[in-house]
Amino acid sequence: MPLSFVLDPPLTDALRADIVALWTDVTNAGGAVGFVAPVIPDDVRPVAEKALAGVAEGVDRLLIGVDDGRLVAVLFIADNRFPLKAHWRVLKRVMVRPGSQGRGYGAALMREAAVVASELGLAGLQVTVRDGHGLDGFYRRLGYREVGRVPGALRIAPGDDRDELFMWLDLRQPQDAAFTAGSAAASATSSPA
Ligand SMILES: CC(C)(COP(=O)(O)OP(=O)(O)OC[C@H]1O[C@@H](n2cnc3c(N)ncnc32)[C@H](O)[C@@H]1OP(=O)(O)O)[C@@H](O)C(=O)NCCC(=O)NCCS
Repeated sequence: MPLSFVLDPPLTDALRADIVALWTDVTNAGGAVGFVAPVIPDDVRPVAEKALAGVAEGVDRLLIGVDDGRLVAVLFIADNRFPLKAHWRVLKRVMVRPGSQGRGYGAALMREAAVVASELGLAGLQVTVRDGHGLDGFYRRLGYREVGRVPGALRIAPGDDRDELFMWLDLRQPQDAAFTAGSAAASATSSPA
């Protein structure tokens, strides 16, 4: 079943619960999305609700990927809330359900976010990456390049400080094949009326 995307889906109680469950599962599988495992849904819910409040206000955008009616991928397109940075956004909480990883869904989700950003007329997208997971390789394949690094910014545990990487996709430049190549796994974004 191809992945289909929805931009700014209705924020129903069911979707909110699905997002909290996915975020919890991703974290407990070792994902770097704002927490350190182990977590339970009660840990994740307040952070998720804050992120969703930004979407409900219309400031941030939510992009989800659905496979056979099931939520499998999520990211937030976060506004900088600063007029001098109104021309670009930060992609946050990029995550794919653990059982659905490795099938091209993450890459398809990121490509779709770039299409949305281009349609919004944005100049670029930034992602902030926790070092030590090899995640920079995932973003590099999609045309992002490292533009900054704060040494030891993230204290995962005592004695385990990780660099925080800032990676950037310039939407003003012609994109390379990695970015523009469509994915057989994906179909176009729909927005609810
Ligand atoms: C990172 C993540 C979104 C990637 O999604 P995915 O669906 O598993 O990735 P894809 O199948 O689309 O992989 C695309 C490419 O990136 C590579 N890749 C995927 N995850 C990677 C990782 N953690 N490190 C390095 N490369 C990775 C794949 O090997 C693939 O390479 P290829 O095109 O040469 O075959 C997903 O693994 C995830 O949700 N991780 C946990 C949450 C997380 O840490 N998010 C990052 C926040 S900064």
